[in-house]
Amino acid sequence: MYTQLQLRDSSRPPVNVATLGKMKANGEKISCLTAYDASYAALIDEAGIDVVLVGDSLGMVIQGHDTTVPVTLDHIIYHSRAVAKGLFRPFQMADMPFMTYTSREQALQNAVRLMQEGGAKMVKLEGGAGQAEIVEFLARHDIPVCAHLGLRPQSVHKTGGFRVQGREEAAAERMRNDARLLQDAGADVVLLECIPPQLGEIITQELHVPVIGIGAGPHTDGQILVLYDILDITPGRKPRFVRNFMTGHDSPLAALQSFDRAVRDRSYPAAEHNF
Ligand code: KIV
Repeated sequence: MYTQLQLRDSSRPPVNVATLGKMKANGEKISCLTAYDASYAALIDEAGIDVVLVGDSLGMVIQGHDTTVPVTLDHIIYHSRAVAKGLFRPFQMADMPFMTYTSREQALQNAVRLMQEGGAKMVKLEGGAGQAEIVEFLARHDIPVCAHLGLRPQSVHKTGGFRVQGREEAAAERMRNDARLLQDAGADVVLLECIPPQLGEIITQELHVPVIGIGAGPHTDGQILVLYDILDITPGRKPRFVRNFMTGHDSPLAALQSFDRAVRDRSYPAAEHNF
């Protein structure tokens, strides 16, 4: 009973929401990666990464789809349960897939499944101010939430593709407001995807909750990348913000350790990774 209390005093206490908040307050960078199975999860843990996301990017890198839209809740639960088996220290987050949070009740029911069946400790959902009511409802039920802003891959059929977001002043202003609104609604973490670095910096300064970026510049509190991208497994052209961490390393573990170091010493992302 209360193993978490005993583990708190161990040399590698598990990361939790409070740890992430402290890291932001202390100016320590948060390293995050996606994972989809137990073996890679164990390597990621060994490499010292803080947060693992079971992302709906699995629809693209595992299932071979063009978008994340075909991913279902059962797919995420299956992979999340596998990832949970491989993790001890990192904080596990799981994506709420397309159309699994269209009402407060549906969102709560599905978030509960991700936590109870998938072993997730936080759920991530995409959307701006329109999702504040859902975030508030989940937060009221003590479900830790990450709000995903900027490029929202579940909406690409509506928005017209995988494009940098927040370039125009009005769009940047809207994103800043959305981020504050979602934080005030109870989001514990905000994730920003594919936005100009200046906007990433402003939002990170304006929020008291940790901000994780992917293609959002060097100033966010943490960095996340898709595991298969940094191991150079993903076929085809990679987004500008991706760095191949296998370069100069002879094992996936060494590449993961290199990513972790590069995030902490701020050598990733470099200028060439910014929009
Ligand atoms: O699904 C995913 O992997 C994500 C990351 C790109 C942040 O949402």
